[in-house]
Amino acid sequence: MRIVLLSLSLAVALALGSAVAQTVTVAGGAVGQELELTRAAADRYMQENPGVTVEVLEVPDLADNRLGLYLQFFEAQSSEVDVYQIDVIWPGDLAVHFVDLYDYGARDVADQHFPAIVENNTVDGRLIGIPWFTDAGLLYYRTDLLEEYGFDGPPETWAELTEMAQTIQDGERAAGQSDFWGFVWQGNAYEGLTTNALEWIASNEGGSIISPDGVITVNNSNAVEITDLAASWVGTISPPGVTGFGEEDARNMWQAGNAAFMRNWPYAYSLGQQDGSAVAGNFDVRPLPAGDTMGGEPAATLGGWQLGVSRYSNNPELAADVALFLASYDEQKVRAVEGSLNPTIMALYEDADVLEAVPFFGSLFDVFTNAVARPSTATAPNYAQVSSAFYTAIHSVLTGQEDAETALALLEIDLEALTGFPTGTP
Ligand code: GLC
Repeated sequence: MRIVLLSLSLAVALALGSAVAQTVTVAGGAVGQELELTRAAADRYMQENPGVTVEVLEVPDLADNRLGLYLQFFEAQSSEVDVYQIDVIWPGDLAVHFVDLYDYGARDVADQHFPAIVENNTVDGRLIGIPWFTDAGLLYYRTDLLEEYGFDGPPETWAELTEMAQTIQDGERAAGQSDFWGFVWQGNAYEGLTTNALEWIASNEGGSIISPDGVITVNNSNAVEITDLAASWVGTISPPGVTGFGEEDARNMWQAGNAAFMRNWPYAYSLGQQDGSAVAGNFDVRPLPAGDTMGGEPAATLGGWQLGVSRYSNNPELAADVALFLASYDEQKVRAVEGSLNPTIMALYEDADVLEAVPFFGSLFDVFTNAVARPSTATAPNYAQVSSAFYTAIHSVLTGQEDAETALALLEIDLEALTGFPTGTP
């Protein structure tokens, strides 16, 4: 009898408990300071909303690994994660797994955000993710070393970058810095390589892999030329291991003072300026170099992350409330000031505190608003496969298994089979 009574009261306590305490789990990134920033935001939400627990689940750094994990949750229709941090390229591929945030209050705030991102996140009229932060590829360069080696300013073209990186690297090595490299970037076979290679190709008038209206353009001589140039960096101005680098590998080498130039996203800025960084006060950012073709212009790939609420969540309403809180003006401001994560709320680009902390959010505003999109909308729901075919082809050139001409010709055939799209010129 006692046991029955005890277990009865336990059941009552549990039932009461679950009615009172509610938990929302957010799957969030941990690149740079992301995890700390998201946890701090979750704490603020909990303070304002006693009775709610927001848990932040750390997910893998590399976009492909993160997607793999999410797909396992979706496959199982798991309610374990309520809110997912999703990449700007995923709404089309993953739309079926998310609720329409317009049904949960997003209508009131959507027009504060960059319209192009809201449009990107809207699939068949449904808002799959509330924009959280945006980004675009930038060139980080060492102001002290450029001066020391007598350069007037940072490189304007990839050819100039190649030469300057070599000169500085030779000099630093001769001065005893045996670990020093000219240029670090993201060359592992993953989504990050797609973003880097798209920048090379677009800046050399080689198009954007597949055009927004569904034409496969990647197999062209400008794309071949710049891909071959990039392959020539591996083991010369870039470490041989760059073909295994993600964002954090590049940043670590750069922040330790072991590189003259780095391609990375804005998040690396705050960290580089912090106490303890070997490059604090000695670097700046600018648009990436242009290609060497007559009309070559710098190109930055559009990146960024959204918060989507899972269809399999047990409490989509509360989950949406958390997502909208995390993506709100005040919270985006904290992430901008402390983590140099670009807001998606336009008004924050006029906020004095934001501009003081991260001056290039103002000076490079056009880089962020004119960034080149990956062909995720045109190829949905198969973008992940398209990108994988692309970065695999590029990686084979970087590692010397294939020359660019052959690799891009073979890629074109793969992309035709994958998408059924016609081929054409950029
Ligand atoms: C950054 C970008 C994201 C991109 C990824 C590639 O996280 O924000 O859009 O897919 O890098 O590594």
